[in-house]
Amino acid sequence: MKKILIIGACGQLGYELTATLRQRYGHENVIASDINAPKMDLADDFFEHLDVLNKKSFGEIVDKHRIDEIYNLAAILSAIGEKNPKFAWKLNMDGLINSLDIAREKKINKIYWPSSIATFGPDTPRDLTPQNTIMNPNTVYGISKLAGERWCEYYFLKYGVDVRSIRYPGLIGYKAMPGGGTTDYAVDIYFKALAGQVFDCFLEKDTLLPMMYMPDAIKATIDLMDAEKTNISVRSSYNLAAMSFSPDDIAKSIRCHLPDFTIRYKPDFRQSIADSWPNSIDDSAAREDWGWQPEFNLEKMTRDILDNLKKRSGQFS
Ligand code: SER
Repeated sequence: MKKILIIGACGQLGYELTATLRQRYGHENVIASDINAPKMDLADDFFEHLDVLNKKSFGEIVDKHRIDEIYNLAAILSAIGEKNPKFAWKLNMDGLINSLDIAREKKINKIYWPSSIATFGPDTPRDLTPQNTIMNPNTVYGISKLAGERWCEYYFLKYGVDVRSIRYPGLIGYKAMPGGGTTDYAVDIYFKALAGQVFDCFLEKDTLLPMMYMPDAIKATIDLMDAEKTNISVRSSYNLAAMSFSPDDIAKSIRCHLPDFTIRYKPDFRQSIADSWPNSIDDSAAREDWGWQPEFNLEKMTRDILDNLKKRSGQFS
């Protein structure tokens, strides 16, 4: 059985990806790691404290567990990145380069690294944004992800490192909280709605953004990692789409279940970040190369999240 290392396992994506890969490959074959202390259910012999910037201890962990596959999910997202641009650049870039070098030096079979819609910028065509187009991102997060995509392709072409990547839309899940993104409002809104509180939205009512429910994101990630090497035509990062909606659209979908839900609009600095990103994404390369198809639209996602959160709060009350 192959051995997998997840870096950033306490994060929004890492937490759910770890759980799904453990179901599939066995708990002991998926090593969870993070710079933060593990959540309760991750705290065991298969968790490692890992600072992705410390290449020496990163390499030691890879050797100790005889790792074959790495998912490096450690990153500083768009909104937080603007508060500390130099550190965001350092973590996002050096973390990736360390992973690519370790993959190369230790002959790791496959490596996964996430990119984002943040690689696009204000000059990018907004609707059905193509795979290859004008990028010009204007956040440090977007700049680091675009540079990272170039490094991924470079390591594949120069050194044969089998690195795979997806440009995720805004990811929405309720099991682990996101931190510091511009699309995070679409997670917080469900918690406020269920608590019967007014939701203050940091984006304008009609700000359309590409989004995806976490089960689709996990499925896409695993499908891409399972794909035959010869089917992968994109070695920078694949465009991926599921749905696009605005704060007004999500508020309406919540009101179908919670009619009294109220949202107020108080846009802040994140508005201009959102305004620089696409409305919708053309993901035909992912569909053609590895059969990508999303399962969740806005209505289905809202129902699923509210049902699960209600069940969860029922368990604790
Ligand atoms: N969800 C990310 C962010 O908002 C975009 O990839 O920063």
